[in-house]
Amino acid sequence: MKYNSVRGTKDIYSPEIELWQYLEKTAIELLQNYGFSEIRTPIFEELALFNRTIGEDTDIVEKEMYTFNDKKGRSLTLRPEGTAGVVRAAIEKNLLVQGGLTKLYYQGPMFRYERPQAGRYRQFYQIGAESIGSDSYWRDIEIIVLCVEFFSRLGLAGLKVYINSVGCAECRPSYRSVLQNFLLENSAPLCADCQRRMARNPLRVLDCKVETCRQVITRIPAIQDYLCQSCRDNFQNIQQTLQKENIAFIADKFLVRGLDYYTRVVFEIKSESLGAQDAVAAGGRYDKLVKELGGPEMSAVGFALGVERVVEVLKKQKAGGWPETSGDVYFALLGQQAQQEAFTLIRDLRQSGLKVEACLENKSLKSQMRQADQYKAKFTVIIGEDELKKGIAVVRDMLTKEQKEIKLNDLVSILKELKLK
Ligand code: HAM
Repeated sequence: MKYNSVRGTKDIYSPEIELWQYLEKTAIELLQNYGFSEIRTPIFEELALFNRTIGEDTDIVEKEMYTFNDKKGRSLTLRPEGTAGVVRAAIEKNLLVQGGLTKLYYQGPMFRYERPQAGRYRQFYQIGAESIGSDSYWRDIEIIVLCVEFFSRLGLAGLKVYINSVGCAECRPSYRSVLQNFLLENSAPLCADCQRRMARNPLRVLDCKVETCRQVITRIPAIQDYLCQSCRDNFQNIQQTLQKENIAFIADKFLVRGLDYYTRVVFEIKSESLGAQDAVAAGGRYDKLVKELGGPEMSAVGFALGVERVVEVLKKQKAGGWPETSGDVYFALLGQQAQQEAFTLIRDLRQSGLKVEACLENKSLKSQMRQADQYKAKFTVIIGEDELKKGIAVVRDMLTKEQKEIKLNDLVSILKELKLK
C-alpha cells in the first residue's frame, strides 16, 4: 500500500529546503536586529480563541478551520494564523508589561481549509511578529519597514506595498451604517454569504472574491472619507513617514483584510511574480484584541509572511541564486577494516564542525567516486587495503583533481587545516 500526501499539503526537501533555510535565517536575523524575541505557541488552541479574535463572519472562521473534538470532547482548532495564539500566550504568561513594549516573533505551520491552488495550501508556513504595548504610529512604520527590508535583503524586486486605514471604535460604526445602507440598496447581485454578512458584519463584504460582489464593491463609499480626525491624522502621518523613508506604497481604499481584529492601518505586500495568490506578507494594527482576550488595554501591531509564496518568488527571480549545498570531505572506503579505521576519523572531523559523508556500504570505487561528486565534496579520502598496509590515505582535491598521500595519523589535522584555508 502506497500513501500520498494529503491534498493541500507539501513535502519540502533538498534543493528547495535550502531556500527555506536561507529565507528563515535571513528573517530571523532581521527580526532580532529589530528587537523581537521568539515565542513558540502550540499548533492547536481552543476553538473559541479563533472565533473571538478572527471573527465569526470571516471566511476563515466560517469555512476554513480544522476543528475537532479531542477524547474529552474539547473543541480544538489547528491554528489558522499566529496572532491569536501569541496574544493569548503573552497575556497568560504575563509577558506584557504595563507601559512597556513586548516584541515577539514566531514561525511555523498554519492550517486553513481553502481550495488548494498555486500559492494556496491547507498547511502553510508563516513567519510573523507582534509588537504589543504601543499606539505610536512609529511602530506601524517599523513593521512595514521591517517587511520591506526583509524582501530587499533577499534581493527581491517587483513588490508593492498596499495600505489602508480601517478606522477605530469611534469612526467605524458610522461607516458601517453608510456601508449597510449602500449594500441594502445594491443587494441584488450579492452572493448568499454577503447577503448574510451585510446585516451582521458589512465590512466583510469588501473582502468577498465573488465576481458579482466585486462589481458592487468597486462602487462602495470609501472608508477613508468616514475616518474620525484622529484616524485621519494617524493615516496621514504614516503615509508621510513612508514617503520620507522612500518606501513606495499604494493607498488602497478597498483593503480591509480577512480578519476582524484590525483597527486603523492595515497593509499587504504583493508580488508581481505570482498569480492570483500574490500577497506575500500582510498585517496591521489591532488595538482592541489584547483587552478582548482578557489582557490589559494595550495597542498592538504585527505582520506575517507566507513562506511558500516568498520561496516561489525567490525561485522565479533566482535572486541571490540557490544557496550551495556542498560537503567538505567524502570517505571512499574499500573493505571492512578501512571502514573501521575511518569511522573514528569521521567522528573526529564531524565533531570539529566539518561536513563529512562516507560510503559504508561496500560499493565499488567507481560508484563511491560518483557519490563523492554528488555530495559535492571538496576532498575525497580514499582508503583501501594497500593504503592501510602503508598507514596512509589518498586525499583527492575534487576541484584540482590533485592527489596526495597523507599519513593516517596526520589526516584529521591536515583536513581541518585545508578546510580552514
Ligand atoms: P493573513 O493575511 O491571513 O494574515 O496571512 C499572512 C500571509 O500568510 C499571507 O499574506 C500569505 O502570504 C500567507 N498565507 C495565508 N493563507 C495562505 C495559504 N492558504 N497558503 C499559503 N500562504 C498563505 C495573518 O495571518 C495575520 N495573523 C497577520 C498579522 C500578524 N496581522 C497582525 N499580526
